[in-house]
Amino acid sequence: MRRLVLFFALVATLTTLVHGDSCAPPSQAIPVYRSFNNGAGDHFYTTNTAEYNTATASGGYFAEGARFAVFPTASATNTVQFIRLFNGGVTDHFYTTNQTEANNAAAGGGYTIENLSPMYIYSTQLCGSVPLYRSYSANATDHFYTTSMEEQNGMLGYKFELIAGYVLSLNASEPSNGSTSAGSTFAGSPSNTVAPPSNTANAALRVFPAVPRLSIAQFLLTLGAALLL
Ligand SMILES: *[C@@H]1O[C@H](CO)[C@@H](O)[C@H](O)[C@H]1NC(C)=O
Ligand SMILES: *[C@@H]1O[C@H](CO)[C@@H](O)[C@H](O)[C@H]1NC(C)=O
Ligand SMILES: *[C@@H]1O[C@H](CO)[C@@H](O)[C@H](O)[C@H]1NC(C)=O
Ligand SMILES: *[C@@H]1O[C@H](CO)[C@@H](O)[C@H](O)[C@H]1NC(C)=O
Repeated sequence: MRRLVLFFALVATLTTLVHGDSCAPPSQAIPVYRSFNNGAGDHFYTTNTAEYNTATASGGYFAEGARFAVFPTASATNTVQFIRLFNGGVTDHFYTTNQTEANNAAAGGGYTIENLSPMYIYSTQLCGSVPLYRSYSANATDHFYTTSMEEQNGMLGYKFELIAGYVLSLNASEPSNGSTSAGSTFAGSPSNTVAPPSNTANAALRVFPAVPRLSIAQFLLTLGAALLL
């Protein structure tokens, strides 16, 4: 009986090691493309490249490239939907994991919940994810999201609101707090009307690998099982 229990502990531990217990496979994450409409004062985020191309080719948006990565389906372990809303009256795309906030914006704020290019992100910092900072410009009526606090701080007229959730970095070599020297050179602040370099759209997607970790209890159970079996 004891051996049986230990055997199952061993199997559970090995399963955890192979699959990870709380991480969606990073290979399933897809890039989120950002574009900016200077006239309307709107930052737009989408995983749909056709939508991104249309917005940047004929919608008045500057292409700002792939910025971070998210999961496209609700089946991604431990993720929540990053709900997309749009207000056509003031031209603002707004994204939140908070269903109450989304409902409030839809009920009285002039926003419509759009079930387009669904995005799923972590609500806590799991699996090598990085914070996605949200700021808001009341002047431009624009919500802005970035993984770079440095870029965030450089946005004139934007006030930091909260961490919207946790996403995967496009570049595993980026510091985990999202700071990157490239952040300060990105176009897209309202004061910047110069289109960014076109190669940012083609940045290779390299995300953090999920590194499963053994808890001390799992380690001891495995050790015990190995000694007894
Ligand atoms: C969600 O949004 C509502 C309405 O804005 C707010 O009262 C609540 O504190 C938010 N919940 C979280 C977990 O942030
Ligand atoms: C607010 O918006 C106006 C144009 O609508 C612009 O001229 C002004 O510079 C903006 N102010 C700030 C602080 O961004
Ligand atoms: C991010 O990390 C770098 C070093 O890895 C550090 O110099 C910088 O101050 C950090 N920034 C924030 C906002 O924590
Ligand atoms: C990723 O990091 C490497 C090494 O720091 C850098 O050379 C490269 O430009 C980065 N790529 C992106 C897309 O940020």
